[in-house]
Amino acid sequence: MELEKFNAPFKGRSLLTWIDYTPEEILKFLEIAENVKAQAKNNETHLRFLGKTIALIFEKRSTRTRCSFETAFGEEGGHPVFLSTQDIQLGGKETIEDTARVLGRMFSAIEFRGFSQKHVEILSKYSGIPVINGLTDEFHPTQALADILTLKETFGTLKGLKLVYCGDGRNNVARSTMIICSKLGIDFGIFSPKELFPDQEIIDICKPFAEKSGAKIEISDDISIVKGANAVYTDVWISMGEEALKDERTKLLAPYQVNQNLMDKTENPNAIFLHCLPAVKGEEVTADVIEGKQSKVWDQAENRKHTIKAIMLALI
Ligand code: CP
Ligand code: NVA
Repeated sequence: MELEKFNAPFKGRSLLTWIDYTPEEILKFLEIAENVKAQAKNNETHLRFLGKTIALIFEKRSTRTRCSFETAFGEEGGHPVFLSTQDIQLGGKETIEDTARVLGRMFSAIEFRGFSQKHVEILSKYSGIPVINGLTDEFHPTQALADILTLKETFGTLKGLKLVYCGDGRNNVARSTMIICSKLGIDFGIFSPKELFPDQEIIDICKPFAEKSGAKIEISDDISIVKGANAVYTDVWISMGEEALKDERTKLLAPYQVNQNLMDKTENPNAIFLHCLPAVKGEEVTADVIEGKQSKVWDQAENRKHTIKAIMLALI
C-alpha cells in the first residue's frame, strides 16, 4: 500500500480528546486504520517505527490498551517502554512537568493512562512530543476510534446510524463516544438514571458538533430511547478508581442492564452490541447478549490494535 495513505496532516500533535480534531481529521485516522488492518490481514510487515521509542505510562490497569500499544509499536520496529507508577517518579518525587521534559528528550512519543486529564495535558505541554491519552477519568479517545471502525465495518457507513449507550452516562467511555458520534453525524443516545446523566459541560461541548454534523443527542431514563438503535453500547458500572461506589452503583444501574429484553426493545434485529471491555457479565450485560449473535465485542477489541497503530502512525 502506498505510503501517502499514511501521511496525515497532523504529525507532531497529541491526541488528548477528539474535541481537538475536525470530523475530516477523524475520518483520516479511520482511513489509516482501515489500511493498517488490511495490511495486517494480508500478513504484510513494515518497519515504520524503526528507530523510534514510545513511553507507555500506566497508573491504572490495562489489557487491551497496553497490549495494543506494545505490539503495534514493537512489530513495526519501534521500542515501547512500559512504565507503571511503581517504576517512575511521576508526580511523586518529581513534578509531572519535569518528568515530561525528561521523557521528551528520550522518546518519540508518550502514551498515558491514568486518573487526571490535567496530567495528560501537562505531559503534552511540557514534553514537546506527541502524547496519546490511553484513558483518563474524563476521556478514552483511542477506544472511540476502535468503536467507530467497528461500526463502519458492520454497516459500511457512519452518518445516520443511531448508537445508544446504556449505564453510567458520566464516565470516560460515554463522554468520548458522545464526542465522536456528534462529530461524525451518528445519532447518540444515553439510557441511564438521572443521577448518572452526563454533565451539562460535555453536552454543551458536543451540541455544536452535532448541529454541524446533523447528529441528534438524546438523554433519557426511559428505555424507549433504544428504539431504532443500530448499536447498543455499555461499559462497566464501576470504573477504575470508583470501587468504593460499588453497592450504590449496582443498585442504581440494575434497571439499565443490557439484556435480551433491552436488545429487543431496539425493534431492530440487525442491531449490534458493543462493549469496550473488560465486561462484568451479569452486571452491565448478560452473558447471553455478550456471547450472542448480535455481539461485536471481539472485533471491537481487535480493532483497538489497528486503530492505535493508525493513531501512532498519524502522530509520530
Ligand atoms: N477497553 C480498554 O481500554 O481495555 P483495557 O482497560 O484492557 O485497556
Ligand atoms: N469506564 C471504564 C473503562 C475501562 C476501559 C474505566 O474507566 O474503568
